[in-house]
Amino acid sequence: MNKMRAMVYTRYGPPEVVKLVQVPKPVPKENEVLIKVAATTVNRTDGGFRSAEYFVSRFFSGLLKPKNQILGCEFAGVVEEVGAAVTIYKVGDKVFGYNDSRFGAHAEYMVLDENDTMALLPANLSFEEAAPLTEGAHYALCDLRAAKIKGGDKILINGGTGAIGSAAVQLSKYFGATVTAVCHEKHLDLVKSLGADQVIAYNREDFTQVKDKFDLVFDAVGKSSFGKCKVLLKEKGVYISTELGKRSENVFLALMSPFQKGKRVLFPIPSISKEDVLLLRELAETGKCKPLIDRKYPLEQLVEAYHYVETGQKIGNVVVAIYGC
Ligand SMILES: NC(=O)c1ccc[n+]([C@@H]2O[C@H](COP(=O)([O-])OP(=O)(O)OC[C@H]3O[C@@H](n4cnc5c(N)ncnc54)[C@H](OP(=O)(O)O)[C@@H]3O)[C@@H](O)[C@H]2O)c1
Repeated sequence: MNKMRAMVYTRYGPPEVVKLVQVPKPVPKENEVLIKVAATTVNRTDGGFRSAEYFVSRFFSGLLKPKNQILGCEFAGVVEEVGAAVTIYKVGDKVFGYNDSRFGAHAEYMVLDENDTMALLPANLSFEEAAPLTEGAHYALCDLRAAKIKGGDKILINGGTGAIGSAAVQLSKYFGATVTAVCHEKHLDLVKSLGADQVIAYNREDFTQVKDKFDLVFDAVGKSSFGKCKVLLKEKGVYISTELGKRSENVFLALMSPFQKGKRVLFPIPSISKEDVLLLRELAETGKCKPLIDRKYPLEQLVEAYHYVETGQKIGNVVVAIYGC
């Protein structure tokens, strides 16, 4: 009863460093809730921390080996126990949320502070639909806000099918922007169904050759560069990428942006607040932003899920179902 199944990693490396083991079930402190995880995801954030491919991630997760040995930043589940001082949640509440400092959702149970970035499950979503609501969407939200997107702006999103890109298309429409999205020709209808006004198939045409000018070019898959996209920007247009770029150029270009008047690069540091989780719940409930789901895996097949995610070809999100829901 005091044990649970969890996918644990004790060293940085490829997907195979993650093993299914029995570990002690966490016990909530007085301000914490114990969540029985019904669904989680495997995403690029989990993969980035697991591989520590970018050394900088070790400053957060442990220099030589991971401090938190269970990954999984997105979750949806049921509150099973509450600490004595908890006032926001009660036993039986269905919740969802995001945590990339403690992680812990790749397990049957996790504990979080009641003030952490979580909220009650959207009324119209199952656990599996709600688990992928926050990772891609909070990056997209952060980047669109940094670019100060407003109604009437024109945005080009490169990679409208990724977790970030598919959320960015929907959130840009929510902000009232006109969206041109780039994806493979086989996904044109899917990306249109997310709300894109125009779609471009990258395997048929070079999107940097289009005649339109944009307030924001959001490279949601980090496959292009400021140099190539500059021509697409309006006079004061902004380029944001989800990747560092060659030799981390996007970071250096962004550091120079306060001294520039014209086209510039921004590289916002991502963050998520409780208000963001509540906004995403509201947008899900009103049908304005719903996560795109690709494949689903059971917990014990997490290694296969990582391999699939790391092909760079997932369409939206990869869900991990822990309890049939
Ligand atoms: N290190 C971290 O912590 C971290 C965290 C989050 C995100 N990121 C980065 O952010 C980026 C986006 O992540 P994500 O999870 O949203 O999605 P993702 O898994 O990287 O994106 C997959 C999608 O990209 C599309 N794609 C592949 N090549 C493309 C191209 N040349 N042009 C346009 N689309 C292309 C694929 O669809 P098609 O079939 O249409 O090609 C697929 O749907 C990734 O580069 C990821 O590494 C990093």
